[in-house]
Amino acid sequence: MEADVKTIQYANYINGEGVDGKDLVEVVNPATEEVVGRMALASEKELVSAIQGAEEAFHEWKGMSADVRAGYLEKFYEKILQRTDDIARMITLENGKPIKEARGEVMYAASFIKWYAEEGKRVYGRTVPSKGADQRIQVWKQPVGVVAAITPWNFPAAMITRKLAPALAAGCTFIVKPPKETPLTAVLLMECAEAAGIPKGVIQMVLTDDEVFSRTIQHSDQVRKLTFTGSTEVGKLLMRQSADTMKNISLELGGQAPLLVLDDADVDKAVEGTMASKFRNAGQTCICANRVYVQEGIYEEFVMKLKQRMEELTVGNGLDEHVDIGPMINQDGYNKVSRHVDDALDKGGEIVTGGREFDRESLSRNFYAPTLILHAKDDMLCMTEETFGPVVPVQKITSDEEAIRLANQTPFGLAAYFFTESMSRGTKIAEALEYGIVGWNNGAPSAAQAPFGGAKQSGLGREGGSEGLEAFLETKYLSIGI
Ligand code: SIN
Repeated sequence: MEADVKTIQYANYINGEGVDGKDLVEVVNPATEEVVGRMALASEKELVSAIQGAEEAFHEWKGMSADVRAGYLEKFYEKILQRTDDIARMITLENGKPIKEARGEVMYAASFIKWYAEEGKRVYGRTVPSKGADQRIQVWKQPVGVVAAITPWNFPAAMITRKLAPALAAGCTFIVKPPKETPLTAVLLMECAEAAGIPKGVIQMVLTDDEVFSRTIQHSDQVRKLTFTGSTEVGKLLMRQSADTMKNISLELGGQAPLLVLDDADVDKAVEGTMASKFRNAGQTCICANRVYVQEGIYEEFVMKLKQRMEELTVGNGLDEHVDIGPMINQDGYNKVSRHVDDALDKGGEIVTGGREFDRESLSRNFYAPTLILHAKDDMLCMTEETFGPVVPVQKITSDEEAIRLANQTPFGLAAYFFTESMSRGTKIAEALEYGIVGWNNGAPSAAQAPFGGAKQSGLGREGGSEGLEAFLETKYLSIGI
């Protein structure tokens, strides 16, 4: 008989051991509001011991050759792939995303480990010609040291591996605090790391209270880098707190992505791109299109086709293979979406599909129907704040200049999308957009080998690509007198 998952207690992973605790966090399935499992909450003392262990492990780990570290990462990658179904199911249970998307997330998460296993072998320094004949100048790249990571609930596996893989490849050791909403996927990743034989202390997982984690990490001189994915508000706070120990920081923060459809776009491509960008994880991604601007010549056709595609989406419990849209992570998430839709209606928006109560039998209160809003205006909440839900507000525009002005009219700069078949028009728009990631005729730009991160208030630094490895390296200048 299957064990009752509700009674399963999950442990932190500290210095190579599973560490239970008396204080427990209940992890709830957002689709049913049932308890998925109970996760131990670590104490400050346990976190300090993890930092100590990570510091001790650092000396051995950084001393290994890049090839040896790559071997461990390759094994870690294989262990994750062997457990794809387990991990995907856990992602769906604690996050709610459809199981087919969860399997995709496991592949995406594993791809960072595979890619950085190779990229870690390409940490190059330089030799620079000096002015005098009696000096040699060398530039070395070395691991920054112990890294602390705070990861979000929307990608319970991939947002850990996108940080962990380059950190380990660079020779750093790594302490992750997963979110309270989705810590159990992280537990499974730790099991894979252990099965891969990654030495004790190199990876640590410590779920504590937010306040305990940031206070302890920020005061520690042993932790040399903090990497965070989450809201801009918390990112700013962490940046201020990091000043005291002058930590190296990377921040992947909120977005408010515009999506522009110009009148020479391939409409079908634009509709599919909008669907891919908007409805991944029910709109709960930092890079998903938040607001859509469509040029008048193509407006009617685009709206009609988008509505049709949105009405084909199946909303429900993500464990069902046919489901496309799962729940919001919790009631706070649901209420925010609802507030944005109500505000749009108050300000003259017209709902053409969704926005209604739908049959919730056997489902929790966290589901929101995919909603298309026309006549969107600049002052609507859904056009100025990240909605983080399955809502598409559409505004009609006339020119490229207007499209660019509206797209850049935000303090955020994570991702932007546009659709045009014209090379010259597209090049000008791509250059003008003040964003870290730009999708041109492409609604799904994320990839292990590409730099991911934002301009303006959407963050600092990049994850993914060679930039993502550089983020875990310190530069040392060696001046040799001969
Ligand atoms: C995010 O929402 O922060 C991550 C999305 C992605 O990696 O594509």
